[in-house]
Amino acid sequence: MAIKFDKLDIGVFCALALAVVAYLQLDKLRALIFSDDSSLAVHSDSRDIVEVLKENKKDFLVIYASQTGTSEDYAKKFAKELAQKFSLNVMCVDVENYDFENLNMLPENVIVSIFISTYGEGDLPDGAFQFEEWLQYLNPGDLANIRYTMFGFGNSTYEFYNGAAKKTEKLLSEAEAKRVGSFGLADDGSGSTDEDYLGWKESIFEDLKDALALHEREVVFESSYDYSELPKEVNNSISLGEPITAYLPGTPLSYNDDGKQLGPFDSTHPYVAPIVNTRELMKSSDRNCIHVEFDLSGSNIKYSTGDHIAVWPSNPDEKVAKFISVFGLDSETVFDLKPKDNTMKIPFPVPTTIGAAVRHYLQISGPISRQIFSSISQYVSETALKDKLNALSKDKVAFAEQITSKYFDLADVLLYLSNGVKWDFVPWVYLVETVPHMQPRYYSISSSSSTEKQTVHITAVVENFPNPTAPALGPVTGVTTNLLRHIHLTKTNEDIAKSTLPVHYDLNGPRGLFSPYKLPVHVRRSTFRLPSNPATPIIMIGPGTGVAPFRGFIRERIKLVSSQENVSLGKHLLFYGCRNDDDFLYHDEWPDYAKKLDGVFEMVVAYSRIPGKPKVYVQHSMMERKAELYELIEKGAFIYVCGDAKGMAQDVHKTFLDILSQGKDITTEEASEILKTFKTSGKYLEDVW
Ligand SMILES: Cc1cc2nc3c(=O)[nH]c(=O)nc-3n(C[C@H](O)[C@H](O)[C@H](O)COP(=O)(O)OP(=O)(O)OC[C@H]3O[C@@H](n4cnc5c(N)ncnc54)[C@H](O)[C@@H]3O)c2cc1C
Ligand SMILES: NC(=O)c1ccc[n+]([C@@H]2O[C@H](COP(=O)([O-])OP(=O)(O)OC[C@H]3O[C@@H](n4cnc5c(N)ncnc54)[C@H](OP(=O)(O)O)[C@@H]3O)[C@@H](O)[C@H]2O)c1
Ligand SMILES: Cc1cc2nc3c(=O)[nH]c(=O)nc-3n(C[C@H](O)[C@H](O)[C@H](O)COP(=O)(O)O)c2cc1C
Ligand SMILES: *[C@@H]1O[C@H](CO)[C@@H](O)[C@H](O)[C@H]1NC(C)=O
Ligand SMILES: *[C@@H]1O[C@H](CO)[C@@H](O)[C@H](O)[C@H]1NC(C)=O
Ligand SMILES: *[C@@H]1O[C@H](CO)[C@@H](O)[C@H](O)[C@H]1NC(C)=O
Repeated sequence: MAIKFDKLDIGVFCALALAVVAYLQLDKLRALIFSDDSSLAVHSDSRDIVEVLKENKKDFLVIYASQTGTSEDYAKKFAKELAQKFSLNVMCVDVENYDFENLNMLPENVIVSIFISTYGEGDLPDGAFQFEEWLQYLNPGDLANIRYTMFGFGNSTYEFYNGAAKKTEKLLSEAEAKRVGSFGLADDGSGSTDEDYLGWKESIFEDLKDALALHEREVVFESSYDYSELPKEVNNSISLGEPITAYLPGTPLSYNDDGKQLGPFDSTHPYVAPIVNTRELMKSSDRNCIHVEFDLSGSNIKYSTGDHIAVWPSNPDEKVAKFISVFGLDSETVFDLKPKDNTMKIPFPVPTTIGAAVRHYLQISGPISRQIFSSISQYVSETALKDKLNALSKDKVAFAEQITSKYFDLADVLLYLSNGVKWDFVPWVYLVETVPHMQPRYYSISSSSSTEKQTVHITAVVENFPNPTAPALGPVTGVTTNLLRHIHLTKTNEDIAKSTLPVHYDLNGPRGLFSPYKLPVHVRRSTFRLPSNPATPIIMIGPGTGVAPFRGFIRERIKLVSSQENVSLGKHLLFYGCRNDDDFLYHDEWPDYAKKLDGVFEMVVAYSRIPGKPKVYVQHSMMERKAELYELIEKGAFIYVCGDAKGMAQDVHKTFLDILSQGKDITTEEASEILKTFKTSGKYLEDVW
């Protein structure tokens, strides 16, 4: 029997069928392209948050929206501690991976803990796009069954401080969800993220105990994964530090016939980009800033002037060796992690070796959290040491004085506390889950996509300074920037011993993947864009490495002028700041740019450390030109600020307030309202870190 459709039905049916086909194709395509990357796959068919929660018999929900991993880390720690302290069966997931339409059907006794980071102009992280859309269309009563806790991660140096969490909080309460406990906020700007979290957590645990009638028990670490050790034989399916499993040898789809990697490349699938050129930008030997050029040709990655590129680093030999030794690990051990249920994600490619995980997948250096002391103390049998750990973990002030101020890495601090005795009794699987995972680092692109279509330039200042309070520990070093410098010195055949490189890296990478001179990267789009009308004047403020995107902007304008007739450019005024001529970045390039943009491009340089001269900062130079700046703003100038978020961006913002309030003869508050509208309309743009 033939089924009859009328025209409308057929139309709907076709559209549906197409959608389904498109959906399946896309999935298939992704599966092919990403070739079953088990480290990223979510092992469940459903995206319905409530269905997955019920399927996995979970009784508590933690969700996070994170850009660079901070709120993800804390959400996971929170989930872990809840599970251990209160025997809860906690589901902890990224909002990116689920649909929330049915959230209101959550079982009554399940509370949702929400962790949200802020980006841009008070926006949610990129991956939370759908989540945000869902929030926006909620109606009163839509979430009347929901109880939640709320914690935001932000930086008070930004205008829209914790804007994303505040926005989410507002929308949830309008939908009549009920908050449990206080609305917690972490401020990276005052360097107190960890303390803010710990303070909030202590109070929220009490609230949750009341709300759910929970009983506390002694914390005992339980792995979230099924951990197993495999025979110590490395074959092609064992990761040795490949950024994702698609880079394992013999993965059929990771290369095409010409030996090129296949994309699409994005934040979950980095491109291993050749570094074609490097240059030291500073002239004195006490500081370094490396110019690096990545070749993206053949990768099909597109970028626009003003975007960011993320570099995926690995740890240096010295720190890897120290970590392995302190914990008495065997680098050669091959291990596997399997999710205990469908909601768990494996954090990095497995099976792998302990050595590879320590070098490539864990963030083994950097500031440490007070909380790790209380959890690691469960493995300590010696009472004096256990007491010391517990005392420090509860005392904010003592921790700051005795630990944070000394720039200890985890291995350093443990050795210091145990007087050099090794910590080989700490289980490896505990470290895998407790030590933060390595995150890519972002850099403002300093090339222009119209002059360098296939090449991305970055301008990275090397983080390397003597440890101010514990010099015996050696210099304090940044992971990525010292890696870039090691590559630069090796590539240019400079005498590394003579240049006193503080740490050394394995530049070959896993199975030679990074040889010669390659690193995994991905591009992230930003909103830092030139005005589309070239006649619009622009004011750029970028001291130090903050000048990076403006080099890109100026190169873009030069290309425009040389490729089109009769372009009339508005004024391009750049305020740059450095200590003296030794750290004047791209010193030799600017005169040439000025010549090519004769009459419209002007660079004002503020020197802060010329002997015998007063310290001048960009904001001082701005005040000297305030009449002209006011005039440009009146003409509709776009304002761009890039670089240090803490001091500079705030001072520059204040300076603009002064210029506006004096120019218009209005109050600072009124001027502040004007700048706020500039920010929301994209005429005042910040790229600060
Ligand atoms: C959007 C964006 C754009 C950016 N653009 C640029 C750019 O154009 N140029 C640029 O140079 N940077 C830029 N950055 C900063 C960059 O992403 C990195 O943060 C920076 O290069 C440091 O990375 P690292 O891996 O070398 O240092 P990390 O290893 O991340 O270390 C960070 C800091 O911690 C210190 N540290 C190390 N160990 C410890 C310890 N035990 N205790 C306490 N402190 C410790 C290090 O010395 C360093 O100062 C940008 C950041 C963002 C978010
Ligand atoms: N401590 C922090 O919180 C923080 C924040 C951002 C960057 N940094 C560090 O700074 C180092 C180099 O960064 P960089 O190369 O981009 O910049 P930089 O070389 O340190 O600074 C560039 C110029 O900006 C000046 N400056 C300092 N404070 C300023 C302020 N409040 N307003 C305006 N100008 C200011 C500096 O002067 P003087 O140096 O002479 O004062 C210098 O002339 C890195 O090691 C980075 O980690 C530190
Ligand atoms: C490019 C950039 C933009 C940011 N914008 C804001 C902002 O507008 N408001 C705010 O409170 N914090 C802002 N922050 C700070 C982050 O929210 C904060 O560092 C947070 O801890 C990061 O969390 P995540 O690692 O989970 O993404 C910004 C940080 C960066 C790097
Ligand atoms: C937040 O502000 C602090 C100032 O204390 C600054 O050092 C840090 O880099 C900022 N963090 C981010 C992610 O912008
Ligand atoms: C590689 O080793 C793993 C673990 O020992 C094993 O499970 C797997 O079958 C081996 N694969 C191949 C292709 O030999
Ligand atoms: C450029 O300007 C000149 C003189 O003003 C004019 O003759 C010419 O046609 C213009 N060219 C274009 C492409 O507009």
